[in-house]
Amino acid sequence: MNPTELRKRLIEEARRRKLVMLTAYDYQMAKILDDVGVDMILVGDSLGMTVMGYPDTKSVTMEDMIHHTRAVARGVKRALIVGDMPIHSDDTPELALRNARRFLEAGAHAVKIEGNKPEVIKTLIDAGIPVMGHVGLLPQTAKRYRVRGKKREEAERIFRDAVDLDGLGVFSIVLESIPKRLARRITEAVEAPTIGIGAGIHCDGQVLVINDLLGMDESFKPKFVKRYAHLERIIREAVRRFIDDVLNERFPDEEHTYH
Ligand code: KIV
Repeated sequence: MNPTELRKRLIEEARRRKLVMLTAYDYQMAKILDDVGVDMILVGDSLGMTVMGYPDTKSVTMEDMIHHTRAVARGVKRALIVGDMPIHSDDTPELALRNARRFLEAGAHAVKIEGNKPEVIKTLIDAGIPVMGHVGLLPQTAKRYRVRGKKREEAERIFRDAVDLDGLGVFSIVLESIPKRLARRITEAVEAPTIGIGAGIHCDGQVLVINDLLGMDESFKPKFVKRYAHLERIIREAVRRFIDDVLNERFPDEEHTYH
């Protein structure tokens, strides 16, 4: 879809109701999220931690992102798929354009760019590629994960970045880990819908990493994550029961055996 049309569509939608985005990294999860009615599916570079076991997103490559975007795209019929441009994939506008096109070829409808990179973002939008912005905590460059914009100077920079991105024509802006008051100020000042993660209730929509929502890692629980399930516990228990059944020759029983 063309960037202006998508922006217009989302602005109108956000006037009626909150927008919902979740991450997905594979076919089965994407199919479920799409089916249940999530508006946007982000193939986030958070897959560095959730899927690949890295400590952060800094080692994620374009190859990793394309592989997972293809898998997600196979499961989605309706939702908007946003491919997260990984670190260094947008170092120059030319490189960013090549890489953004790879995301679209893999099945994404749009890309997300971390930070205020006006030349890169303008190049992509001029080329017809919808861009989602991202301000606040920027994991690709952050030395430490902490709330941003508590101090006035940092808050003003984040605010200006969001206003700049809006002026460039992004179709929405992720606000990550900022105080709710700042998120409200940004949301009221920009036209593009804001999608919060750790940014409070006043954003136009919300995003969470699906693994966090599902409780896949009980040891990881930042303040902004609400767990809607405890899958780590459920998986552990299921696997324990399987081990026990195999060791005690209860599986496979007659019901699960061909004759
Ligand atoms: O990579 C990711 O999952 C993200 C979200 C946290 C917005 O960028």
